[in-house]
Amino acid sequence: MKTILVTGGLGFIGSNFIRLLLNDFSDYKVINLDTVTYAGNPKNLTEIETDSRYLFVHGDIGNRDLIDDLLKREKPDFIVNFAAESHVDRSITGPAAFIETNIVGTFTMLESFRAYCTAGHKCRFLQVSTDEVYGSLGTEGYFFETTPYSPNSPYAASKASADHLVRAYHHTYKLDTLITNCSNNYGPYQFPEKLIPLMISNALEGRDLPVYGDGKNIRDWLYVEDHCRALELVMRAAKTNETYNIGGHNEMENIELVKLLCRSLDRRLGPLPDGRARETLITFVGDRQGHDQRYAIDAEKIKNDLGWEPQTDLVKGMEMTIDWYLDNQEWLNQVRDGSYQKYYQEMYDKR
Ligand code: NAD
Ligand code: TYD
Repeated sequence: MKTILVTGGLGFIGSNFIRLLLNDFSDYKVINLDTVTYAGNPKNLTEIETDSRYLFVHGDIGNRDLIDDLLKREKPDFIVNFAAESHVDRSITGPAAFIETNIVGTFTMLESFRAYCTAGHKCRFLQVSTDEVYGSLGTEGYFFETTPYSPNSPYAASKASADHLVRAYHHTYKLDTLITNCSNNYGPYQFPEKLIPLMISNALEGRDLPVYGDGKNIRDWLYVEDHCRALELVMRAAKTNETYNIGGHNEMENIELVKLLCRSLDRRLGPLPDGRARETLITFVGDRQGHDQRYAIDAEKIKNDLGWEPQTDLVKGMEMTIDWYLDNQEWLNQVRDGSYQKYYQEMYDKR
């Protein structure tokens, strides 16, 4: 049995990762440390709450005493750090929380990890990062592991800072660390502030679909389960201090993606009550400040070293995602509570 300390496991990717570890593997025990921000939702893991291989701990990655105690008590073999503030738009209106959790929080985890290893424990630390640390691409080219960091948003800069700390902790203290830089994820349990679940939830209610700028920004979409399988593989099998790009070669302009979602919903549910196609809900709104034009990952290294390839293409993954949101409208209604309505008004009403 290997023990894995997952941080941020009540969020979108973390909860999918924990579900994968417990459902598809028999030899992992999981401790989930999460402070339950607006994005952390205990309902994301309801079905595994009673699994004897699972333990939830309510706490902040910035709480050094708590982390020290947890490491001493549970003696993890792996730490996988998902915990973060993750939404670019929120980092533009309120960057402080991103500095606190993504940089100072990761630093605190690393300090605790260093003390734990210095005391003679064997453990690896996997930092779950993003392709946004590389900045923005023009119409050509890809992000490689060797691409220089050039983060553009406070979110991206905070994730880049954390990556630098992780790298430095390997170089200086010879700790066993790994970093993955993944492209945009989508799939079940994603909070409806991000493009895909926001558009699905608005389209279901016949509300405007707010596309930023001209809608021609490109993202490289990866189905969340593919990302989680890559993380498990890197955690278990990568050589120390490796960094891996993870992506699906699923580049699409935002406007095309939103139209795809609309057409799929029309096919399943018929048109809106007034007979219009859902595409007519698309509304171009003011652009995001400093909006990155294009992200695209070259994922050859993880394919060649570890044999990972994505299993789910964008059309299939989108159908599975829409199925999930249609089957889980209660989840969607619950997360769009009062604080979500306030967020939505502040972010979109004046755009
Ligand atoms: P999310 O916002 O859905 O979840 C973040 C989780 O972290 C929540 O459960 C939240 O409660 C928890 N958390 C926040 N601050 C914390 C703190 N101080 N202490 C403990 N827990 C805390 O995020 P996500 O989309 O699941 O992303 C997870 C990680 O993957 C992040 O590090 C993000 O940068 C990275 N990532 C995300 C994407 C993507 O497309 N979503 C792509 C690449 C990398
Ligand atoms: P998002 O899901 O926030 O991910 P990221 O900014 O990390 O890539 O946004 C994906 C793309 O969709 C990005 O180019 C911004 C755009 N977008 C909209 O056009 N409208 C929206 O309401 C949102 C949330 C995003």
